[in-house]
Amino acid sequence: MNREKISRIAHTHHPIKAPLDDDSVRELLERGISRPDARVLDLGCGGGEWLLRALSAHPRLRAEGVDVSRDALGRADEAAVGLGVRDRLVLHHGSAADFAPTRPYDLVLSVGASHAFGGLVPTLAAAREHLAPGGRVLVGDGFWENEPSPEAVEMLGDFAGLATTVERVTADGWTPVHGHVSTRRELDDYEWTCWGTLAAWALDHPDEPDSGEALATAAARRLEWLRSYRDCFGFLCLVLRRTSD
Ligand SMILES: C[S@@+](CC[C@H](N)C(=O)[O-])C[C@H]1O[C@@H](n2cnc3c(N)ncnc32)[C@H](O)[C@@H]1O
Repeated sequence: MNREKISRIAHTHHPIKAPLDDDSVRELLERGISRPDARVLDLGCGGGEWLLRALSAHPRLRAEGVDVSRDALGRADEAAVGLGVRDRLVLHHGSAADFAPTRPYDLVLSVGASHAFGGLVPTLAAAREHLAPGGRVLVGDGFWENEPSPEAVEMLGDFAGLATTVERVTADGWTPVHGHVSTRRELDDYEWTCWGTLAAWALDHPDEPDSGEALATAAARRLEWLRSYRDCFGFLCLVLRRTSD
């Protein structure tokens, strides 16, 4: 069973691929969108869920998304048609680090995709390249809520604590104008929903060739979360402006 299929099924009921509920996503977008006709770019857009919500809420907004996953971009395309926003959305297949647009953006988003750039500060450097004067960045990344186990670092990458993470961002010339730390409920909902949905799919499709593997994957991933990182992983979103341009 390939990773795309696992991810597609697991995120059926949690299309935002990050531990945030719908109200948090709405609030972050509203803080990031500074004008009704904003041009918005999402680096690592996945299924385009952030952009689709921004486009639906703002009829004059235009959006572009970049992702390496054709499967995810295909779903973004289909959903945009269904919502009647396809004419205001451009999707680019390729590496976010190589994306070379011709015009700047009022809001650059990158949530849960910092690995594409090699970390949070390099993600901000890339976002800055694409930012219009006075523009905003909405970035989401992990941090360590508590001392991580070696397995957690191996699995998720080497984050810092919350204060150090924010200090690194401000030292890089950014001012947070809004922030959101995922709640225990958001973090738990995300994991229970993803692995529960995958497990339920397996139970509902016993005759599918992938059914047994899906059930085993859901069980393994749930256990990894509970044993290795539930007690130490946190998730932070920041809406940022340049402190001085
Ligand atoms: C955790 S998902 C987050 C998706 C989306 N931002 C969201 O919050 O729903 C990370 C996304 O980054 C994409 N990705 C990984 N490496 C990438 C790269 N080098 N360039 C562009 N996208 C990349 C993956 O395909 C995936 O869709």
